[in-house]
Amino acid sequence: MVAKIYPSMLSANPTKFGEELTLIENAGADGVHWDIMDGNFVDEITFGAGIIAAHRKISSLRFDVHLMIENPDKHMENFSRAGVDVIIIHPETCKHLHRALTKIKSLGKKSGIALNPAIPINVIDYCHDILDMVLVMGVNPGNSGQIFIESQLEKIYVLKKTIPKSVEICVDGGITDKTIQKCSECGANSFVSGSYIFKNENYLQAIQILKKQTVV
Ligand code: DX5
Ligand code: ZN
Repeated sequence: MVAKIYPSMLSANPTKFGEELTLIENAGADGVHWDIMDGNFVDEITFGAGIIAAHRKISSLRFDVHLMIENPDKHMENFSRAGVDVIIIHPETCKHLHRALTKIKSLGKKSGIALNPAIPINVIDYCHDILDMVLVMGVNPGNSGQIFIESQLEKIYVLKKTIPKSVEICVDGGITDKTIQKCSECGANSFVSGSYIFKNENYLQAIQILKKQTVV
């Protein structure tokens, strides 16, 4: 099986998001990953639901929003209306994690939980039935271009053994031609990649190199 690749718009050229979306779609991306940062949970501030809604009109790619924001509940309706497909939250940002995931599902969206490198897997123990995706962070969130943290390989491996097969295991952060294969061998089935894809002149080639290493 070949893994899915979701380029992260955090590394795209911010003056040309529309063109970048078309280019990655034509290059075989399986979806696009939008890193939403509030300057609070993480230091940077990126984009809100308005930007997503505008780009929804010009792309048919799957849209995942990775909410690195405090009180994500407050913003879920907005992102839902913007036309996203998957809403991913961090457990540290929710007072009531089960309620927050239930809300995502009730909006008709796929739900995801992002696990920072120091967050253990057991936070999702009683949420398997309302979860569509686990985003294993290969780096501490906030920036692109960081080095993959090797200890997360074990997390991927254990997740693969313990969560239902229907739950997608995606790795976000530090994914390159040097790291994707080992993550894939541990059981990940999809990958976010920002700087590796967008710093390459040829997105098609970059995505193909990544996908090729996930064939098992
Ligand atoms: C990190 C973000 C990632 C980031 C990945 O805070 O969640 O999605 O864009 O960038 P790379 O692939 O360059 O590590
Ligand atoms: Zn992300």
